[in-house]
Amino acid sequence: MSLILDPAAQDLLFRQARTANTFTDEPVTDEQIKAIYDLVKYAPTSMNQQPLRIVLVRSDEARQRLVRHLAEGNNKKAETAPLVAILAADNEFHEELPEQLPHVPQLKDLMFSDRGVREQSARFNAALQMGYFILGIRAAGLAAGPMTGFDADGINAEFFSDGEHSVLAVVNMGKPGENAWFDRSPRLTYDQVVTTI
Ligand SMILES: Cc1cc2nc3c(=O)[nH]c(=O)nc-3n(C[C@H](O)[C@H](O)[C@H](O)COP(=O)(O)O)c2cc1C
Repeated sequence: MSLILDPAAQDLLFRQARTANTFTDEPVTDEQIKAIYDLVKYAPTSMNQQPLRIVLVRSDEARQRLVRHLAEGNNKKAETAPLVAILAADNEFHEELPEQLPHVPQLKDLMFSDRGVREQSARFNAALQMGYFILGIRAAGLAAGPMTGFDADGINAEFFSDGEHSVLAVVNMGKPGENAWFDRSPRLTYDQVVTTI
């Protein structure tokens, strides 16, 4: 009774949503990705910064360039998923901040003139946006298979030669295929996680 989200939507996004390891051949369209992005872009970040960048890997040639940087086991999944995306943090996100925070444009220089501060903020907030994106994939009736088992320096050099981006994850997307799931692993309970002071 405490949640007002429709129970079917709760299942779709959380209880029955699983991390897929295999996929059917059904394509994932640009329209689906656009609908996902146009939904999850409203989720909050610090100072409304939007450092997440999403590279859709559609050509066979690009997929081969990506797969060779993935860990054993992950490479097979990315070879067979209908669509693979590279999720990265743009470490120069602050250039757009005055548009995203028009009432305090001076924060761009006040807060983010230091590259180290910028990178930390980009990584943190792009990771938040990645979580929202994964939920958006589920909202589209698709399954996501996020992966961080890869050579990050290799992917950054291969796909982000400007040196201004840091890969966060590679995400396989599609309809789950045969034997798509590992067994569900336990989650911490409320009492293990939440304290009241
Ligand atoms: C950021 C992130 C990185 C992950 N990296 C990998 C990976 O490199 N390889 C892999 O097989 N699974 C990877 N996973 C999948 C997780 O192990 C999986 O989402 C988690 O165990 C929950 O599984 P469930 O959704 O089936 O309950 C990753 C998941 C996330 C969110």
